[in-house]
Amino acid sequence: MLILPHTRLFGADAPSNKLNIALIGTWGRGEAHFGAIGRENVVALCDVNEEHLAFGAKRFPQAKTYVDWRQCLDQKDINAVVCCTADHTHAFVGNWALNRGHHLYLEKPMGNSVEEARVVRANYLKNKHKVATQVGTQRHEFENFNRVRELVLDGAIGELESVCAWGNRQIPRPGYLPAEGEPPKHLHYDLWIGPSPFHPYNPGYFSGGPGMNCLQWNMYWDFGSGQVGDMGSHTMDIAWNAIDAALPTSAEAKGDPFHPEVTPVRLEMHFDFPANQARPPIRVSWYQGGAMPESPNRCIDLTKIDHGALFEGSKGFLVSDFTSRVLYPGGDKADLTYYKPRAKEAVLPKMRGFQQEWIDACKGNLKTSCDCEYSGNMIETMLLGLVAYRVGKKIAYDGAAGRVTDHPDAEALLRRTYRPGWTLNG
Ligand SMILES: NC(=O)c1ccc[n+]([C@@H]2O[C@H](COP(=O)([O-])OP(=O)(O)OC[C@H]3O[C@@H](n4cnc5c(N)ncnc54)[C@H](O)[C@@H]3O)[C@@H](O)[C@H]2O)c1
Repeated sequence: MLILPHTRLFGADAPSNKLNIALIGTWGRGEAHFGAIGRENVVALCDVNEEHLAFGAKRFPQAKTYVDWRQCLDQKDINAVVCCTADHTHAFVGNWALNRGHHLYLEKPMGNSVEEARVVRANYLKNKHKVATQVGTQRHEFENFNRVRELVLDGAIGELESVCAWGNRQIPRPGYLPAEGEPPKHLHYDLWIGPSPFHPYNPGYFSGGPGMNCLQWNMYWDFGSGQVGDMGSHTMDIAWNAIDAALPTSAEAKGDPFHPEVTPVRLEMHFDFPANQARPPIRVSWYQGGAMPESPNRCIDLTKIDHGALFEGSKGFLVSDFTSRVLYPGGDKADLTYYKPRAKEAVLPKMRGFQQEWIDACKGNLKTSCDCEYSGNMIETMLLGLVAYRVGKKIAYDGAAGRVTDHPDAEALLRRTYRPGWTLNG
């Protein structure tokens, strides 16, 4: 009898061990995934723009093609989905994929409303014994994320008291674009609008370069959540990774005057989080569009950092951007004797690559850094902040039930309404 080594047949690259991936959104951000998914079987492609679909098909000629993601997800051999569509369809594609038992890589943000984030998270938790998920905050692979987490958890700034993150991207828009011309033949505009309320076609929504076109539509409430879901997803991740938080008990926010069509440019939001075993209760804040936290020390000019986070503790503070950090012990007692750097063996390991972590998890232990629970809690919090902004009041939140307990108007804003024919949790 011939006995073959186990790894030859069933190794990571064996044909039998490749994922069968559907890529939904095959241009722009979709292209950033070509390399990682190109080592797997890409069996289905979907894009509402047939020219973009052709772009994907050139790279993956063996894949079947679709313009409607609902039909795409009916293809029987799929077992993993990468979704790079516009934000207002993320939660839809995510839920449909999870409900069919597929692994899921979902571009950020995970949803456009508190309800959307909660439903995706719930579907993930129901299926987490068999699927791996990753939400597309790929900067998380920078080693700085681990170093910041270690410094905060190991007590380099004493006991953590508050954390804030900020971003300075500013994209003011006057309102939805006016009707202009007919959608080109290759664009299935009604499918692009999808579940959102209808807005007439204007080429301006599609005038951005690859991977940047999201900036043409993400400031509008029906298509995105502005900088909250855009750079907010990435930058709050620096903070989120170090605080082991779930959901807040309150949210308050202020910023530009409310506009019914466009999300605010300038905004600050504050959240109270309960204590956990490692730390007392903390306040978490997000600032954007020119709103900035005050620097705890005149030696540090936070406005020099476009996208960053500030951790304040009882013995000093830590300032971080995506790739570097500054530790600042503060006060007479800040002699650092209270801080014991961890042993070399306990230093958090480097990630193999953000997309690769997901692919490996799909084939292995299903564990990823930014799964739909971690990222879902983060974006639910941020989207709750937008609700507080809209009602202009501090609101109390019951995270277990997903309810605003002291404000009926805010409660109604936790969810979006959809056009007939579109099912969020299908
Ligand atoms: N992780 C990151 O760093 C990063 C960077 C850029 C964009 N993004 C995210 O990726 C997503 C796409 O951004 P983009 O700039 O590529 O936008 P985009 O408008 O160019 O859309 C990308 C592709 O998806 C297609 N598409 C849109 N809606 C679709 C639908 N319902 N069904 C099928 N295809 C659809 C578009 O035709 C396009 O080809 C956004 O959600 C954005 O937040 C993430």
